[in-house]
Amino acid sequence: MKTLYGVLLTLLFLLYSCGAKEGKTPTSSVPVTPESQMLAEGKGVGEVKNVELTTPLDAERVSRGKSIYDMKCAACHKLDDMRVVGPGWKDVTKRRKPEWIMNMVTNVDVMLEKDEEAQKLLQLCLTRMPNQNVSIGDARDVLEFMRANDGEQ
Ligand code: HEC
Repeated sequence: MKTLYGVLLTLLFLLYSCGAKEGKTPTSSVPVTPESQMLAEGKGVGEVKNVELTTPLDAERVSRGKSIYDMKCAACHKLDDMRVVGPGWKDVTKRRKPEWIMNMVTNVDVMLEKDEEAQKLLQLCLTRMPNQNVSIGDARDVLEFMRANDGEQ
């Protein structure tokens, strides 16, 4: 009789501990994009995890992006491949993933701290790009303008 209780107790314990373990594992339906994975994929680090590019270009975004460029970026970035304070934007959309570009624009301080490619640029340019409080939507518009600048239709 004693051993039977023992077996039952063990079974109960096992059941309980399995159940408890299951409760702790993260649910697989929530997509997790850990920072290290983003960095390894060349997407940088920040709020922007996934950008869907569309063809043809969104003309309204391109023109809003151009105004933002004229106001906030043109002092340091040319549209050809000449470096002024920052690198020229020619072919930037071919060198970088869209997520990387948008994170660089909206989260520059953390990018300079954690992303190797951003750090290489800092070594090259010797000036930190200032955080200019660009919203995610504005950054998306500038990205569309960069695509147009790189000859996309
Ligand atoms: C005061 C100068 C300055 C301004 C203004 C500026 N940047 Fe920069 N930008 C830099 C520098 C310098 C770098 C290189 C990284 C570093 O050293 O911080 C850079 C890097 C970049 C890069 C990466 C380029 C590459 O070749 O990979 C992007 C994209 C970028 N800036 C976008 C913008 C956008 C968009 C704006 C306007 C909203 C802007 N920048 C305004 C100085 C500036």
